[in-house]
Amino acid sequence: MLYDSFQRIHDYLRISLTDSCNFRCAYCMPNEEIEVMPHSHLMQTGEIEALAKTFVGLGVKKIRLTGGEPLVRKEFPDILHRLSKLPVELTMTTNGILVHKHIELMKTAGMRSINVSLDSINRETFHNLTKRDQFQKVWDNILLLLDQGFRVKINAVALAGIIEEEILDFVRITEKLPLHVRFIEFMPFQGNHWKSEKVITAKQMLEIVSSNFPIVKLQDEKHATAKKYQVPGFLGTFAFITTMSEHFCGDCNRMRLTADGKMKNCLFGKEEMDLLGALRKGQDVESLIMESVKRKHAMLGGQFSPDYLKAKADEIENRSMIKIGG
Ligand code: GTP
Ligand code: 5AD
Ligand code: SF4
Repeated sequence: MLYDSFQRIHDYLRISLTDSCNFRCAYCMPNEEIEVMPHSHLMQTGEIEALAKTFVGLGVKKIRLTGGEPLVRKEFPDILHRLSKLPVELTMTTNGILVHKHIELMKTAGMRSINVSLDSINRETFHNLTKRDQFQKVWDNILLLLDQGFRVKINAVALAGIIEEEILDFVRITEKLPLHVRFIEFMPFQGNHWKSEKVITAKQMLEIVSSNFPIVKLQDEKHATAKKYQVPGFLGTFAFITTMSEHFCGDCNRMRLTADGKMKNCLFGKEEMDLLGALRKGQDVESLIMESVKRKHAMLGGQFSPDYLKAKADEIENRSMIKIGG
C-alpha cells in the first residue's frame, strides 16, 4: 500500500497516453501550435503496461486513462487490451469525439464509467471553445455510451461569462438522461491565461441552480473530486469540482503518470519523478514511486494555499494541462 506522510492511501493512478488532442480548448492548451512530444519520448505500450503493473503491485485499484485526448493515441487498442488484464477499475476521460470507433473495445476491456469533457451544449459556443464544429458528434457519442450501459459523467469547465447562460440547460438535461454533470471551477495552469475574473465559484453556480430548481445534496463518493446534488425526480445529478474555492486535498488518493513517463504526486506539484527513464535503465521503479508519494505535500502541490494559488497563478511552475492530463 502506498501511504503518504499524511497517512493518505494512494490507490488511484491517472495515466496520460498522449499530449496530442484533436480539439483546441484554450483553457487546456497554451497555444494552437504547441509542440507535441516526439513519439520516442512517450511511454511505449509495453512500458505503460510495466509501469501500471508496478503501481498495481503497490496497491493501485483504479486507473484512469487521460491525454491530451487518449483516443488519438494510435496504440490505444493494444494499451487498453493489456491494461484490461490488470485487477483494477479501468476508466477514461475523453473529449468524446472518437468514442464510437472504440466503444466495443472499451466494453470488452470491462470499462463501465467514462467521463466526457463537454463545456457547452450550444453548438456555436462549443465551436468557439474547442475550435471544432463537432458538438453533434460528441453529443451522439454521449448518448451512445448511455445506450451501451456506461455510467457517464460530463465535465464542464465553468468559465465566467459563458457558463451562466448554460447552467440551467445542463441541469435540465439530467431530467430525462442519467448523466452526471460536473461543473469545474477554472484552474490555473501554465499558459492558460487564468484570471480570477474568469472563475465562477460553486457557490455562485449553486445559487443560480437553486433559485430555479428544488435541489437536494447527495452523499459524495469516497475520494470524490465533486460535490454532488440532484433535482428530486431527475434521473441524473449535477456536481461541482471546487479546487479554487474549497480544495479537497485532505482526502486525496491520486497519482499521475505523464505521457512521457514522469510521475507527478499532485496536479499542482512541479516535482516529477522520471519513472520511464528509470525503467529504460533497468533501475528500481518501485522505490521511486514510494519516494514520490512520501514527498507529497498536504495540499495543492505544497507551494500554495488556495489564495496563494490564485494570487500567484501567473508564476506557477507546472506543466500545461494538456501535458498533465487533468
Ligand atoms: P472520477 O474518478 O470519476 O471522480 O473523475 P475525476 O474527477 O477524478 O477525473 P476527471 O478526469 O473527470 O477530472 C475532472 C476534473 O477534476 C478535472 O478538471 C481535473 O483536473 C480535476 N481533478 C482530477 N483529479 C484532481 C485532483 O486530484 N485534484 C484536483 N484539484 N483536481 C482534480
Ligand atoms: N481548469 C479546470 N478543468 C480543466 N480541464 C482542463 N483544463 C482545465 C482547467 N484549466 C478539465 C477538462 C477535462 C479534465 C481532464 O480536465 O475539461 O475534462
Ligand atoms: Fe491531491 Fe494535489 Fe489534487 Fe489536492 S491538488 S486533491 S493534493 S492531487
